[in-house]
Amino acid sequence: MPRTPTGCYAFISHRLIRAALGDDPPRDVRWITPVADMRCAEIGSGGGYYTAALAARLGAGGLLVALDPAAHDPRARRGTGPGATTVHVAGDGCALPFASASLDALLYSYSLEEMPDPRAALAEAERVLRPGGQLVLFLWRPLTRRRRLASALALGAEDNGFALFRSHRGLQNLRLAYRKR
Ligand SMILES: C[S@@+](CC[C@H](N)C(=O)[O-])C[C@H]1O[C@@H](n2cnc3c(N)ncnc32)[C@H](O)[C@@H]1O
Repeated sequence: MPRTPTGCYAFISHRLIRAALGDDPPRDVRWITPVADMRCAEIGSGGGYYTAALAARLGAGGLLVALDPAAHDPRARRGTGPGATTVHVAGDGCALPFASASLDALLYSYSLEEMPDPRAALAEAERVLRPGGQLVLFLWRPLTRRRRLASALALGAEDNGFALFRSHRGLQNLRLAYRKR
């Protein structure tokens, strides 16, 4: 369950972080490479900051599952629009409600750090992605112990069945894109 109320996340996501990081959803979702009839999940979708842009990126015919423990909150449903069919699901990134090898891509934007067990979350990512599937992680630069752990695990994903194909270290954040081997 979330450690901070959704309203607080929405404020952080939509005002402070975005001003500081220069996040831009239409630009940032290009870290995901669309494939036909793509099945994608956004894990820790929160207030939907990336959801609409990601659905547009996947295109019609795609399916986007926006998963968050707080998906029951109406604020988490903002950001639906044209493009892939978008389904909002309440769930836990550490125990994903998807069959093994059933998804083409996963996006975690500043959410891996928030999960109670980021190691279990990455193991779940490896389980539900098909071979060649994309794992895209946006992380804050590690200033706290919990963030350092998540970043170290994310950077170590190459040892756990993933191959890094793109990365960027910004002033405040880290972006990583892997393919499942
Ligand atoms: C900083 S917010 C980022 C939200 C959104 N991705 C964005 O970029 O605006 C972190 C999100 O992680 C979610 N979260 C926390 N624990 C989680 C878990 N166990 N499984 C899935 N999401 C989780 C929170 O509910 C929150 O929406």
